[in-house]
Amino acid sequence: MKKIIIAIDGFSSCGKSTLAKSLAQHLQYAYIDSGAMYRATTLYLLRNEVLPANEAGIKKALQQIDIQFKRINEVNTTFLNGENVESEIRGLEVSSHVSEVAAISTVRRSMVNIQRTAGRQKGIVMDGRDIGTVVFPKAELKIFLTATLEERIRRRVLQLEKQGKNISREEIEKNLQHRDHIDSTRADSPLRQAEDAVLIDNTNLSEPEQLAMTIALAQERMIKENE
Ligand code: CDP
Repeated sequence: MKKIIIAIDGFSSCGKSTLAKSLAQHLQYAYIDSGAMYRATTLYLLRNEVLPANEAGIKKALQQIDIQFKRINEVNTTFLNGENVESEIRGLEVSSHVSEVAAISTVRRSMVNIQRTAGRQKGIVMDGRDIGTVVFPKAELKIFLTATLEERIRRRVLQLEKQGKNISREEIEKNLQHRDHIDSTRADSPLRQAEDAVLIDNTNLSEPEQLAMTIALAQERMIKENE
């Protein structure tokens, strides 16, 4: 069976990584969380006090950043220069700055290169904002996920509570709206639905339901590839 590339894009906190992870596990494909790459880069820049306007500083930082993903106790874990930063990159500080960092073209070019290399052999599920439009415009299956803002806030509150992070509902709402706005209005690779993407509104879908829908779509595309 020939392997395909699956791109999942959408607004903040609409369940992209939950879907991407379970789909990758089901198909025995690799999974790349492209958002974690932008988050780890943001953390590095914050720690080293490199401001988004400092072009030379950003270029130098990008050469010093190594991002790896490892599975630890069944959990996809992000490492920045060998350090486990999974928890820190999900906190409010990184969340408040990541969209400004992700709007910088130098940063995007560097991340997209790494992402394309990871997809060279196909057999990959990647989630983000520009995966179907820019990173893999020829991906065999593109999904654009949406859910209502209320539902997205509810899910992020639950997720952060589970991680023991104490962030108010108001702060979460502000952060999601802030990121959605910057992500969809930036000049370089704005978030938008690719013309050939399948739109799935998962507001009222359970996780098994959305997984079953996407498995069916993936199987259909795989059969087409093998014809
Ligand atoms: O919080 P959520 O899981 O929704 O976001 P994420 O996937 O972790 O992405 C964090 C941020 O990284 C987004 O708000 C975007 O600013 C940026 N991003 C991007 O610009 N392009 C991508 N392919 C993935 C993320």
